[in-house]
Amino acid sequence: MSTPRRPLIAGNWKMNGLRADGESLASDLTDLMKNETDAVFDMVVCPPFTLIAAVADALAGSAIALGAQDCHPAEKGAHTGDVSAAMLADLGCDFVIAGHSERRTNHFESDAAVQAKAAAVQAQGMAAIICIGETEEQRDGAMTFDVVKSQLAGSVPKPSTAANTVIAYEPVWAIGTGRTPSTDEVQEVHALIRTELTAALGAEESAGIRVLYGGSMKPENARDLLALEDVDGGLIGGASLTAENFWAIAQSCV
Ligand code: PGA
Repeated sequence: MSTPRRPLIAGNWKMNGLRADGESLASDLTDLMKNETDAVFDMVVCPPFTLIAAVADALAGSAIALGAQDCHPAEKGAHTGDVSAAMLADLGCDFVIAGHSERRTNHFESDAAVQAKAAAVQAQGMAAIICIGETEEQRDGAMTFDVVKSQLAGSVPKPSTAANTVIAYEPVWAIGTGRTPSTDEVQEVHALIRTELTAALGAEESAGIRVLYGGSMKPENARDLLALEDVDGGLIGGASLTAENFWAIAQSCV
């Protein structure tokens, strides 16, 4: 890892696990983290809503942070089935994912909706992990740069700071497929994201914002991806569901 930013290794558990699974995964990670006295990375796990309280207990006293996968932009009110950012902060969350491609696709979330969610997260003193990334069709049509630019412009609240914002570049076609872009392709998109952030937020603030790569990151490819100049960590789905794989990815930052 050659950036001045401290790497963030983020686990997105998606819709997986019952209470016993979440508790045991969180406590295995807590044990591993305890022995990592000089960790060179930050770690966060984002369980489904139902597991957040139990995982918070299992992580108590550990350096591993807690996150959630989504929230409603409103503070409270008549939104059946939704969860507000304030409720997540109340449970001890420090991070909330906003605009994951599965939300954008399955729940038709627009850039504006993602921006509103990210702003709600920031207003509660947490950091939004804002996801962007092109579909396979867009990549094949040489539209990756345009898509990433417009998603960034539309989804990142202004102002945003290094403390309350993380960007995750996740090519949609790489999520859960075992396929990844080449390291050169990842680096060129991350460099573009950094340039765009600098233009939008100023050099000082943007210099501290971490830009994660996500999409089929696993122990076998993590070291090469995390070593890229503008990659500041990973957003990991499938491989975050076992302590062994998730920890091996974190160890690739060392
Ligand atoms: P994956 O998911 O690691 O299973 O590809 C990443 C993500 O969707 O955040």
